[in-house]
Amino acid sequence: MEQNKKEKLFSAKYLVMFFITALVTAGITLLLVNIFEKKQEATLYPSVFKPVGDEEVDPKVWGENFPFEYDTYKKTETNEGQTFYGGSDNYQKLDKYPNLKILFSGNPFSKDYREERGHYWAITDVKETERINDKTPNTCITCKSSSVAVDIKKMGPENFYKAMFKDVGAHYDKSIGCLDCHDPKTMALRISRPAFIEAMERRGIDVTKASRQEMRSYVCGQCHVEYYFKGDGKYLTFPWDKGLQIDSIEAYYDEVNFNDWTHETTGSPMLKMQHPEFETWSTGIHAKSGVSCADCHMPYVKNGSVKVTDHWIRSPLKNVNNACQTCHKWSEQEMVNRVKTIQDRTYETMYRTELAIIDAINAIKAAKDAGATDEQLKEARKLHRRAQLRWDFVAAENSMGFHSPQETLKTLSNAIDYARQSQLAAERLMKNVAVK
Ligand code: HEC
Ligand code: HEC
Ligand code: HEC
Ligand code: HEC
Repeated sequence: MEQNKKEKLFSAKYLVMFFITALVTAGITLLLVNIFEKKQEATLYPSVFKPVGDEEVDPKVWGENFPFEYDTYKKTETNEGQTFYGGSDNYQKLDKYPNLKILFSGNPFSKDYREERGHYWAITDVKETERINDKTPNTCITCKSSSVAVDIKKMGPENFYKAMFKDVGAHYDKSIGCLDCHDPKTMALRISRPAFIEAMERRGIDVTKASRQEMRSYVCGQCHVEYYFKGDGKYLTFPWDKGLQIDSIEAYYDEVNFNDWTHETTGSPMLKMQHPEFETWSTGIHAKSGVSCADCHMPYVKNGSVKVTDHWIRSPLKNVNNACQTCHKWSEQEMVNRVKTIQDRTYETMYRTELAIIDAINAIKAAKDAGATDEQLKEARKLHRRAQLRWDFVAAENSMGFHSPQETLKTLSNAIDYARQSQLAAERLMKNVAVK
């Protein structure tokens, strides 16, 4: 009995020792792992942070502190080829979609209209486009280069926009970079373009109060928006006073009586829409659910032990795993199919809209050729404008409907209706002219 008790005590002692040893070993292992992780973090964020100047436009200098972000940023140079409707291959859209030449007759976009590509290329592409000439205002450079953030501060926005592109923007050599989205002192996201701040202010929104999640879309909304050059000073303005939907944007333009150009074939007073990604996204299910541009276009990735932001901004279709599958449990193939279904539906409806607008264009031209007056043509031309600005709101947006599928189809169905109304109005004139 006594013997037995002793043995029990003995083995209990060993058991305790065993657990202590195990705990200590586990502790040391954890400590080592921790130190190792800290080391890895240290290589990502050097303990000696090299200060970046307020006017540092060279991403390479920022990259000395943040090699991961810099390396992924540089990948925006890569051409990954075309996706179903997007991608980073800057092919000539006028060759692929010849309807564009008819729709944009008399507008520089009928001469040169390329698919957009990565941020690395912005400065190269703006210098090369045939849409730029000696009379181009400097406003055009606003979304293409980090140097803009510096010069707008130095010159003041009014003088910056009023200058000529050939005198200022044409001499820049840096593309979109770190300074456009980050405060060099704190690395916090910040808005460097006044037009966004001013437009939000007019809508009663103070961007300095934005949440971190809002900022993850606002930084993109500085450039990925519809805009116009207001007045003789060519002041960059976003037409958002009445709201971000196309009907509100049209109402704004009608009120300030703005036209971008006169359609050469029909004489209609037209509006050219420019890449309204921010507006379109804002009407979709993802924005409503609090999903930001960065969630899909700059997803988090693991770099060693740290979660960092992928700065290779590109088509999410090339990165479905990180871009979508963090939230959606569908397979990669299923994700791609869902995007393709939305895009195919949009494209088919968009193409039908083009045919309807071209019918209207031909009807107006016929009436004009038969001698109809400007006064008589006014109604048909106005309807042509209404149809085409809606079609363009979808066509110039770069997600082929994905950012907001239902709003996009509504916009197109209204466009078809206005186009057919325009055609009817012109055909009625033809009858009248013929009778006369
Ligand atoms: C829920 C995910 C998601 C969100 C949020 C999102 N996008 Fe997209 N975006 C996509 C998908 C999918 C495409 C289609 C890509 C394609 O066709 O290759 C796309 C396409 C684009 C394109 C064209 C890319 C190309 O390859 O041609 C741009 C530019 C863009 N988005 C900008 C934005 C901006 C700016 C925001 C925020 C205002 C935003 N996106 C919000 C998923 C998203
Ligand atoms: C188009 C805007 C944009 C540009 C250009 C940009 N960033 Fe970022 N950056 C972001 C966004 C969005 C985040 C995520 C911030 C958040 O979630 O609060 C981010 C996060 C970061 C972070 C925080 C750590 C991380 O990875 O999440 C660092 C550091 C950083 N960026 C460095 C850079 C550097 C260096 C450059 C230039 C080579 C650069 N960024 C260019 C938008 C940008
Ligand atoms: C300073 C202006 C500016 C800012 C800020 C900006 N973009 Fe862009 N973005 C552009 C321009 C200009 C292009 C087209 C470049 C070209 O084709 O030469 C572009 C292209 C793109 C593309 C197409 C890439 C491809 O491979 O086809 C995507 C996607 C995109 N931007 C998303 C974003 C997102 C998301 C943000 C915010 C995190 C953002 N952008 C912030 C100006 C900007
Ligand atoms: C940060 C989370 C998040 C990310 C990232 C995300 N989604 Fe979503 N997605 C949502 C939420 C939330 C909804 C709304 C679901 C609901 O309310 O039922 C949604 C809805 C959808 C829908 C249904 C749309 C509709 O009209 O009903 C599709 C399709 C979709 N997402 C595709 C994608 C694709 C493709 C990507 C990647 C490019 C993506 N999502 C990335 C959160 C996300």
